[in-house]
Amino acid sequence: MEYKIVNSNLKKLKTPCLIVGMHQNARNHQLIATIDAFTEGWLGKQLDRGDFSGRKGQTLYLYDPPGMKAERLLLVGCGKEKDFAERSYIETHRTVIDSLSNTTIKRAVTTLPSLKVGERDSDWKTHQAILTCEAAIYCFDEYKTDEGNPKPSLEVLDLWMNDPPNEQRILLATAVAHGVAFAKDLANQPGNVCTPTYLAKQARALKKRFSDIDVDILDEAEMEKLGMGAFLAVSKGSDQPGKLIVIHYRGGAEEANPIALVGKGITFDTGGISLKPADKMDEMKFDMGGAASVFGALLACAEAKLPINVVGVVAAAENMPDGRASRPGDIVKTLSGQTVEILNTDAEGRLVLCDALSYVERYNPCSVIDIATLTGAAIVALGHEVSAVLGNQRSLIETLKEAGEETFDRVWELPLLEEYQELLKSNFADMANIGGRAGGTITAACFLSRFTQKYHWAHLDIAGTAWLSQEKKGATGRPVPLLFEYLRHCALN
Ligand code: BES
Ligand code: MN
Ligand code: ZN
Repeated sequence: MEYKIVNSNLKKLKTPCLIVGMHQNARNHQLIATIDAFTEGWLGKQLDRGDFSGRKGQTLYLYDPPGMKAERLLLVGCGKEKDFAERSYIETHRTVIDSLSNTTIKRAVTTLPSLKVGERDSDWKTHQAILTCEAAIYCFDEYKTDEGNPKPSLEVLDLWMNDPPNEQRILLATAVAHGVAFAKDLANQPGNVCTPTYLAKQARALKKRFSDIDVDILDEAEMEKLGMGAFLAVSKGSDQPGKLIVIHYRGGAEEANPIALVGKGITFDTGGISLKPADKMDEMKFDMGGAASVFGALLACAEAKLPINVVGVVAAAENMPDGRASRPGDIVKTLSGQTVEILNTDAEGRLVLCDALSYVERYNPCSVIDIATLTGAAIVALGHEVSAVLGNQRSLIETLKEAGEETFDRVWELPLLEEYQELLKSNFADMANIGGRAGGTITAACFLSRFTQKYHWAHLDIAGTAWLSQEKKGATGRPVPLLFEYLRHCALN
């Protein structure tokens, strides 16, 4: 969809549909009062019929408002004014798009960005409007043989507001929205399609599309030579060969150190020999959500031409039980030289990540963020609203928290204290790959922290936020908005 900024006179604005928000029982308010005056009381008469009070989620189409050039008005309920904040602003856009997709309207003007949303400025309101609308029209129906959902007819949405946003904003928001959709597309693909080889192909396609993207792909033989024993302990249990996919985005100065994004790319997680129960195992196709967010963030960077260097590293493997699979009790040597006793083959994410994290040292990154659907414990601790963040550097963590608040793709910090490290003790190797049930997200991060001491590092556990279950089952594209905001922050500083 295309987005444009308009701020011409509403009375004279020619459009198939003018979208106006109304707070609950607030018909004397702002634009509603203005339009009532434009139509010489006609709008008030329509509201007198009582079908629409402005309750959150309500919609009402009114046709041919007299004295105006709009063909329709779409009234949208915004709920009580005192409760109207970021969240309702976002939800109201969703209501609008859902409603419009049952019509044939191709172009509309929305005045929602002119509403007051806390202290948020027009940049923020524009950004969220675009991201929300793009998310609302997203649909993954590649495998539906009949037409699936009808495609929404809306082609252009004009955002009407009094003080226009920065002219770059539409480009930035659209780039992020494309990154989110790309991440969703990758993660929604089934495990029999989205293999490590498929992800490698996607990386090569990015290189073809963008001149400032370059790609290196390491196969198992090369990883063997380097000594990535932890990664290979996972990938060798599958017929699908594992890949370490390195994507360079070079938008900054040649000598500028890159920011590294490292994604867990388990294209399907059966648990391996420590096999998972059958219930909901299909959702383990989303276990490459971290990798998908790296792809999405890089696509957004390239589209927005951010003036920074980023290296994305995707540790792609399938976790299967097989004759060649790792056994509980196996001991492997990591790229760092440290040894690991694999007490549970279902704690595979940290095994592929630890070698990828050692591998990125060679790029002298100014900061490293890994993104992983790492632990079910993250869902127990935080549910599905926020991602967990842990790390070894205060200002990096704080910047990520701020980026989360800005984008509403939020994170919550868990304590990465020395005391938890003891839980990883092994009788036979330098460490075990599990730390027991208690504090599972923290001990997983403790494990990774042993491979990230040479640089500033933060870990995002997105097990609760990367996808939705039940009726809305599907990838969310998180945390692409958060990552992009962080990268944009780095580009500005
Ligand atoms: N991919 C899973 C984590 C996961 C589970 C994410 C459920 C989302 C929903 C990960 O590989 C895993 O299996 N972790 C284990 C670790 C345990 C064996 C220490 C877990 O969380 O149970
Ligand atoms: Mn697992
Ligand atoms: Zn996993």
